[in-house]
Amino acid sequence: MPFLMVAAQTAIDETSKVITVEKTPEVRLEQINPHPETGNDAVRPPQENPMQCALLINAACEYKLTMSFPVPTSLHSNEVMIRNYATGLNPIDWKSLAYNFCLPQFPWITGREMAGIVARVGDAVTNCRVGDRVWTSTYYKDRRAGCFQDLVVVPEHTVARIPAGLDFESAACLGVGALTAAMTLWKWMGIPMYPPPAVPSTVARDDRGYVLIWGGSSVTGQFATQLAALAHLHVIAVCSGQAAPVLRQLGAKHIVVRDGLSDAEIADAIRGIAGDDITRGIDLVGSKTARTLLEVLSKSKPALLAPLAMMSSSTPVPDNVTVVGVEMKQFVLDPSSKVYSSRLNELIEDGHIQLPQIEVIKGGLAAVEGGLRRLKEGRANGKKLVVSFT
Ligand SMILES: NC(=O)c1ccc[n+]([C@@H]2O[C@H](COP(=O)([O-])OP(=O)(O)OC[C@H]3O[C@@H](n4cnc5c(N)ncnc54)[C@H](OP(=O)(O)O)[C@@H]3O)[C@@H](O)[C@H]2O)c1
Repeated sequence: MPFLMVAAQTAIDETSKVITVEKTPEVRLEQINPHPETGNDAVRPPQENPMQCALLINAACEYKLTMSFPVPTSLHSNEVMIRNYATGLNPIDWKSLAYNFCLPQFPWITGREMAGIVARVGDAVTNCRVGDRVWTSTYYKDRRAGCFQDLVVVPEHTVARIPAGLDFESAACLGVGALTAAMTLWKWMGIPMYPPPAVPSTVARDDRGYVLIWGGSSVTGQFATQLAALAHLHVIAVCSGQAAPVLRQLGAKHIVVRDGLSDAEIADAIRGIAGDDITRGIDLVGSKTARTLLEVLSKSKPALLAPLAMMSSSTPVPDNVTVVGVEMKQFVLDPSSKVYSSRLNELIEDGHIQLPQIEVIKGGLAAVEGGLRRLKEGRANGKKLVVSFT
């Protein structure tokens, strides 16, 4: 699928950065400086039809950068508009173009995670105010929530403040990898969110259970490893030798270095570690490894598999295994899911969770396409790619 850049301007029109819109009954209106730390405090005259910069996908599944995409003029009472300072890049972003899914109509705007500053709030919003530094995780069905645009509109409960000490770029990687790991473990795999800070001596070593994370060094795998270790599970991580030291530092108890091994040989090594005791598995690689992972899950105890990177529907699933359907849209559809982003924030602020190594790509929306191409071609060098707008 060719990537097409029609307007490759990196500078964002200054006039498009200021939001001044007509007052409607349902929205509190604010006039803000988009990037206060740059020192531009000018209050701009009202714009009748405010425009923003957006990375559109057209009907041919090609990108088109535009400087004149309309800014939503009204918000629902529970919605928040966030000025984009940084957006994380994810495999789903290039996959949805390459395979034409999660694109309800054209032109569409993708991008699932971002961090920035609250620009406007609906009348009923109580948990954040204009000027707050926040991050969010979005659902593809609302074009206003696509993160590859200057101004992103999302429901209030999906907006979390940026943990103290994090910059926008770091916070922009929480909405997909971190939140998916958290909800997979806490919501769908029944792993406690509030483990005690230390392993209780009353819990025997073998009672704590194993979780196998295939693709442990992926961004999602790094978060999952830490959250599982915090819950006192024994993590077995499959990763490259290069990533092994990081995984060990993040809390993986056992590491199977995959370099030069077939999946069958990796499976043998895993059985050598845990025998028939693996009751939870998370696959972050693909259909083939998900199938192999199923073979090493316990045959005698109830077990859970979360195939986060796809699993063929024809894969035979043993009766004792439940395949967990991880639906991250629930974070947006179910307001009670806010508990997961809140708990993640606490763990980060308390220093229990380490963020992956981040590579910041400058250039704003004009840099998204190149970053996604690197992800697609496996050239992220083990780092989380984040595009910065500042
Ligand atoms: N369902 C959802 O909502 C959801 C959410 C998040 C992610 N995902 C999916 O989960 C997958 C991972 O996403 P991500 O963003 O976390 O990935 P990522 O950070 O881009 O992961 C890339 C890493 O995967 C590792 N890897 C590649 N092939 C491997 C193999 N055969 N065995 C073990 N590790 C391998 C490589 O590390 P080493 O070379 O160091 O091993 C590579 O650095 C993607 O398919 C993504 O679409 C799904």
